[in-house]
Amino acid sequence: MFKVNENFAKLPGSYLFSAIAKKVDSYQKSHPEESIIRLGIGDVTQPLAPAVTEALHKAVDEMGKAETFHGYAPEQGYDFLRTIISQKDFKERGCLIEPDEIFISDGAKCDSGNTQELFAPDCKIALCDPVYPVYLDSNVMAGRSGNYQEKTGMFDGIIYMPCLESNGFVPDFPKEVPDVIYLCFPNNPTGEAVTKEALQRWVDYANQHGAVIIYDAAYEAYISQPQIPHSIYECEGAKTCAIELRSFSKKAGFTGLRLAYTVVPKELIRGGASLRDMWNRRQCTKYNGAPYIVQKAGEAVYSEAGDAQIREQISYYMRNAKTILDGLKEAGFTAYGGVNSPYIWMKTPDHMTSWEFFDLLLDKAHVVGTPGSGFGPSGEGFFRLTAFGNYENTKEAIDRIKKM
Ligand SMILES: Cc1ncc(COP(=O)(O)O)c(C=O)c1O
Repeated sequence: MFKVNENFAKLPGSYLFSAIAKKVDSYQKSHPEESIIRLGIGDVTQPLAPAVTEALHKAVDEMGKAETFHGYAPEQGYDFLRTIISQKDFKERGCLIEPDEIFISDGAKCDSGNTQELFAPDCKIALCDPVYPVYLDSNVMAGRSGNYQEKTGMFDGIIYMPCLESNGFVPDFPKEVPDVIYLCFPNNPTGEAVTKEALQRWVDYANQHGAVIIYDAAYEAYISQPQIPHSIYECEGAKTCAIELRSFSKKAGFTGLRLAYTVVPKELIRGGASLRDMWNRRQCTKYNGAPYIVQKAGEAVYSEAGDAQIREQISYYMRNAKTILDGLKEAGFTAYGGVNSPYIWMKTPDHMTSWEFFDLLLDKAHVVGTPGSGFGPSGEGFFRLTAFGNYENTKEAIDRIKKM
């Protein structure tokens, strides 16, 4: 008889953002006169750069002619895109990542969920707490956890690595040695980055213990400080222990277009097997390649014009981030992030819980943010605001918060 995957039943309650949407909808219904400003969800708002739309139009025209039509894309991605990524994102930063170690996909969300197919079912998983929920939920679905404990907000069998003010939001090594370590820097939700020295310590730790790091660098394009590494491969020895995830979503506004890539170096060998070859096999079996037109749009991101336009967009969002961070500090709040990432991680005042502060902010300032506890138990007492809104709304939101 058919049996469902019972691991799904371990996942608690509703998805964080649907819970927020429900609360906001009900508030708006009872307060139709109030204009609500949403600084909660991490989606971009700026339109695609002109160089990107131009490349899209051109590629669409190619698809309409027999001579230039493209069918299935290579499962690994087109060479034109893998080559330019290898050059611009890695070699120009001193990281020798070759095109055949780069796998183009339609999103870092799917990649972060799919890469865990490479691990044995009993691999021990370590996660930052708070965390981007996909790493946790996808491993729970795959059966790598015990039950969820309502009281602690944690799953049995998962190693939680608290990211707190006291450790600068970069985790300490856990007591129990994990097999797989998820790291994300610049971080969602804390907005904090990791120094090269601290990341090197993690690389050394993983190599020493034979662990694998899944390094999510989806927000790499927002790094503004020169001492912050853009890739884990800037660290010595990372090619023998790390998989890196990148995304065009936040870098170039592709959230609705869908493009990302995963780097699996050839040197990454575990149990005598090449993870790069396993990932290649997995992609060939289960994936039929990101669309040609989208990969051409991705190529345009690296053109001179595309690069300049995208930098301008990022500066726009980072002006919002500065407005939020400075404004919160002026209003007497403690806040982090916002310098190398589009996220600001503020401490709730007067020991309020994250959800109490959510309600207060919605009621008094009509501003929506994301309760930190939604990202894990160590997010309790924090609140995430994003810089992805438009500047006028962001400024208005901060003015309202200051008057609260
Ligand atoms: C840390 C992190 N990784 C991955 C993603 C998803 O990226 P994509 O749009 O490429 O699926 C997000 C999206 O918010 C994210 O915050």
